[in-house]
Amino acid sequence: MDQKKKEILKLSSLWESVDDCLIETDLKGTILGWNPGAEKLYGYKSKAIIGKSISIIIPSKRKDEFLKIIRNIRKEKKTYHIETERIDKNKVIKNVSTTLIPIKNERGKLVGITSITRDITQRIKLLKDLNESEKRYKSLIEQQFDGVALVDKSGNMLIWNSRLIEQLRFSKKEIEKLNINKVIPDEVKKIMTPKNISKNMYKSFHISSNIMRKSGSLFPSEISIRILENKMVMLIFRDISERRNAEEMQEKLINKLVAAQNILKNLSKQMIQVQETERRNIARELHDEIGQTLTAIKIDLINILTSITSLEVREKLKDTVKLVENILNNVREMSLILRPSILDDLGLIPAVRWTLDRQTQRANINAKLTTSEIDKKLPHELEITCFRIIQEAVTNIIKHSQAENMSVEIYVKQKELHLIISDDGIGFDVNSARENAIGGYSIGILGMQERAELVGGWVDIWSKSKEGTRIHAIFPFK
Ligand SMILES: Nc1ncnc2c1ncn2[C@@H]1O[C@H](COP(=O)(O)OP(=O)(O)OP(=O)(O)O)[C@@H](O)[C@H]1O
Ligand SMILES: [Mg+2]
Repeated sequence: MDQKKKEILKLSSLWESVDDCLIETDLKGTILGWNPGAEKLYGYKSKAIIGKSISIIIPSKRKDEFLKIIRNIRKEKKTYHIETERIDKNKVIKNVSTTLIPIKNERGKLVGITSITRDITQRIKLLKDLNESEKRYKSLIEQQFDGVALVDKSGNMLIWNSRLIEQLRFSKKEIEKLNINKVIPDEVKKIMTPKNISKNMYKSFHISSNIMRKSGSLFPSEISIRILENKMVMLIFRDISERRNAEEMQEKLINKLVAAQNILKNLSKQMIQVQETERRNIARELHDEIGQTLTAIKIDLINILTSITSLEVREKLKDTVKLVENILNNVREMSLILRPSILDDLGLIPAVRWTLDRQTQRANINAKLTTSEIDKKLPHELEITCFRIIQEAVTNIIKHSQAENMSVEIYVKQKELHLIISDDGIGFDVNSARENAIGGYSIGILGMQERAELVGGWVDIWSKSKEGTRIHAIFPFK
């Protein structure tokens, strides 16, 4: 067999056996050869298609492109390679990679074209999918509220989001060339050493530290570091400066509020002290000055009475003496209410007994006082506080409760002095009474609470409609 025949045989067996699609046409585009690869790709049997025009497998949108290439091949007699589309027997469009080779005769004249085509639909689809998933991945990163950087093992930027650009204040171009090691603190650099990266795949680390902006200024951040496959590292920076500012602001406000509250407490303590001193002074004035002067007037009047003979004048003078006596009693009463001297002289329990008798007798309420032994002398300030709270609670019972019975208990238990004032009256809504009091409608129950707090105690008020009211004040004392 001569060399040429051998070559033809070799070629034709190649023609039959290759997986790729081989098609031969003449210069008009008439199909002359169609191998099994072409049958497989386009669905046409070779017998049926030979002699037909190649345009059968060119989709209409690719016709111009095809004609242009053929024109160029004719002119330049060069091989062309393109990635394009073809259409099969079932009208399915295929992505193909095709090489068009000009065929020349022995004299070098162009006689036809052979094309070798490979189906790349799958590859294109894969690329498209890859592109899509990369896009999704990027958009996911872009949407993050935090700054995100995906870097390689040396810290070079691979993917990042706009938030990161905002945080670091680099331009878009600068960030592309940035090495993340320039902005991260040493603690993070230590995690990102090549040794650590290979050892800790898929591990995450969280560090609270400062990140450096382009200007060199720092911002506090919570940093998450996750080591991914292919020695990539994902860094997420959460800027906590705003949160920190807000926390600092809140702390300042709270401090101011506490300071204001302390001022208010001091003021009300002073006010109560001033009120007590004033009351004592007025009480003394009433008792000592006015009371004694009235007593002197009364004695003088009685003396004058003995020396007067006129019956008419005597009767008038007697009336005047009675008037003076009434005023004297009123003055004593007022002085006692303002500041019972019994409290200063004999202490809390006798003073409470006295005020209870005085206040409840007139109101027609059964009052009971129970006390336990108080072996130590109570501090005077505490005695006054307790007395004023009981006085207000009893006044409230008389004014509002319509109770038949009431009781006052005073006892000491575990270094605490307890006062319980209860009644079986109509009761009231404590919360709305408190709100009214804060709104400025009354001072009774708020005053009780305030006084108690000033000596380190507190007041608990319980009340239920138709069941009564119970006021429990507790004071720690040594
Ligand atoms: N023991 C009680 N039984 C029923 N209602 C009461 C009793 N104590 C208080 N209240 C109700 O709670 C309200 C608030 O009491 P608070 O002592 O603060 O004010 P007030 O007695 O009306 O006025 P003031 O400022 O002169 O004390 C009263 O108006 C009354 O409605
Ligand atoms: Mg009251």
